[in-house]
Amino acid sequence: MSVEALSGKVFLLVTGASRGIGRQIAITFSSLLEEGSHVFLLARNKDALKEVASNIPSKVKVFTASADLSKLTDAKSIKELMLEALPGTTTNAFDRVVVVHNVGTMGDVSQAVNNILDINTWREFYDLNFFVPAVLNAVIMEMFNTIKKTIINITSLYAIQAGIGCGQYCSVKAAREMYFKVFALENPDVNVLSYSPGPVDTDMFKTVCKNLSDTKAKEKFNEMREKKTVLTAEQTVNRLVQILKEHKYNSADHVDYYDEL
Ligand SMILES: NC(=O)c1ccc[n+]([C@@H]2O[C@H](COP(=O)([O-])OP(=O)(O)OC[C@H]3O[C@@H](n4cnc5c(N)ncnc54)[C@H](OP(=O)(O)O)[C@@H]3O)[C@@H](O)[C@H]2O)c1
Repeated sequence: MSVEALSGKVFLLVTGASRGIGRQIAITFSSLLEEGSHVFLLARNKDALKEVASNIPSKVKVFTASADLSKLTDAKSIKELMLEALPGTTTNAFDRVVVVHNVGTMGDVSQAVNNILDINTWREFYDLNFFVPAVLNAVIMEMFNTIKKTIINITSLYAIQAGIGCGQYCSVKAAREMYFKVFALENPDVNVLSYSPGPVDTDMFKTVCKNLSDTKAKEKFNEMREKKTVLTAEQTVNRLVQILKEHKYNSADHVDYYDEL
């Protein structure tokens, strides 16, 4: 299948690639890449990253780095990390850079916003979910300045719909979408997509099913798991590929799994 947004010799970066949706994005996207492309997978769990790498076809070169992204709070360390996936080559060797800002955490979904009184709890959450992705994105723009770019922000329905117990998550996903809207205006040549993957059966979803303070929503999510209407990572990533292939969105649009474009 040919997908313009993933075409040419690609440098693909996926954050939060060790499990869940990020793992599947790494595997599915890699299978569509041209020979000689580089794939760079980031997350903390080294062994899980290796397992993902073992599922990627050998025509592309896979690099993994075990990193706590919440701690990568300066551009210099981010650039050094990026260089780990460019040994003996330069960014000019690629036709396109594809970045999937997939890393995401929910925060403590058992807490109402009025109960989150420790400012460091907010700061640490925003470091991982907003500040680091923003700086990482800026570093990539600088490093790959002359190369075509596809930037995918993995967002959520919660970016546009408030939910009890999801104050940190909703606010950061909304902020991240707005960041990418501004980024798209300032960079009209970049293909930007905020993809909302729908409810997907991952560790994150299981945590919500267990801990969400909103009992009604929690029941609904648990029912989805029981009735198996929750999506698989493969289903949502196949839909993402289809959305990229058809390219009916405007740059930085919020596009949901269930949207009919
Ligand atoms: N699942 C859903 O229903 C759903 C719905 C809407 C949106 N989303 C969004 O989809 C994205 C992926 O979610 P998911 O459900 O696949 O989540 P997940 O199963 O919890 O996976 C999260 C990924 O992020 C990595 N990660 C977490 N903290 C990290 C840190 N400090 N440093 C580096 N990596 C870190 C994890 O790897 P390590 O533990 O190895 O670091 C893992 O690879 C998120 O942005 C989420 O908001 C999910």
